[in-house]
Amino acid sequence: MIITRQEDVTDVVLAAMDRAPSERLRTVMASFVTHLHAFARDVKLTEAEFEFAIDFLNRIGQATNDSHNEGVLFSDAVGLSTLVCLLNNGQDGSTETAAALLGPFWRANAPPTANGGSIVRSPTPGPALFFEGRIRDAQGAPVPGVRVDVWQASPAGMYENQDAGQADMNLRGVFDTDAEGRFALRSVKPAGYPVPTHGPTGDLLRAQLRHPYRPAHLHVLAYKPGFKTLITQIFVDDDEHLESDVVFGVTRALIGDFRKGEGAAPAADVSGEWYSLAYTFTMERGEAVLPHPPIK
Ligand code: BEZ
Ligand code: FE
Repeated sequence: MIITRQEDVTDVVLAAMDRAPSERLRTVMASFVTHLHAFARDVKLTEAEFEFAIDFLNRIGQATNDSHNEGVLFSDAVGLSTLVCLLNNGQDGSTETAAALLGPFWRANAPPTANGGSIVRSPTPGPALFFEGRIRDAQGAPVPGVRVDVWQASPAGMYENQDAGQADMNLRGVFDTDAEGRFALRSVKPAGYPVPTHGPTGDLLRAQLRHPYRPAHLHVLAYKPGFKTLITQIFVDDDEHLESDVVFGVTRALIGDFRKGEGAAPAADVSGEWYSLAYTFTMERGEAVLPHPPIK
C-alpha cells in the first residue's frame, strides 16, 4: 500500500511486521509500534525533537563501555527497570515482592567468601557493618546452598570500579547459605551516592531538575536452581533519599533495620562506630536465570 496520510502509517508498518515467524516478536513489536506512533501523535513530535531523540539514543550507546552501562542507567532513571522488576516478581506482579532492580554495577566473578568473612578488600574507612542474611522459601523453610552475590558502594558512595583508591572487587563477594539458609558477612556501612551523570541520562535529570541520588543500600543476588533468581537491594533506614530514589528502587519491604552497635563489636579490631543488619529474604520457586553482567 502506498501511504497517503499520516493515519495510514501505523497500519502499513504493522502489516510489514506481521510475517515474523516468532509469535512473541510479532506481539511485542506490534504493541511497541502502536504505542510509539500514538506517542508521536499525542505530543505532535516535531522534527527538531525527533532529531534530538535520535541523537540522545546514539549518545546512550556511545557512553556505554566495559565499565559503564548508560542503557541500564537510562532505563533505571525513567522507572522502566523497576516496572519490569515488579511485573515479573511477586507472583508475576500480583503480590508485593522483595525484588528490586539490578542496576548497572553488578560484576560477575566476585570472590567466593567464607560465611562470616569480610568483603572489605582494601582499606575502606567507615563504620563496620555485620550483616546476617537468611533465605527461606515461600513456605518459610530455610533454603540451603543458595549462591548469594553481595555488592555495595563504599562509605564514600563509590563502587570499586569507579574508584582507583579501592582494590579490585572491594565490597563485593559471593557466599553460600548454610544448612539453615544463613549467610553472614562483614563490611562497611554503605553511603548513598549520585548515579553517573556525565552522559545523556545526566542531561535528562538536569533538564527535569531532578537530583541524582540513590539512598544507601546493599545489593543482593540470590541464585539456586529450582528458584527464581532473587535480585534485590536493602536500604539504610535513615537515608534522606528513601522517598526520592532517582531510580525508584525503594519499596517498604526493602528498608533494612540497621542497628547501631552498643558495646563490643563482634570483631576485636573494630574501634569506632559499628552497625548490624539482619534480613530475611524469600525466594519464589521458578527458573534460575542469571542476568548478563551490565559491566565487566
Ligand atoms: C545501583 O544501585 O547500583 C544503581 C542503580 C541504578 C542506577 C545507578 C546505580
Ligand atoms: Fe547500588
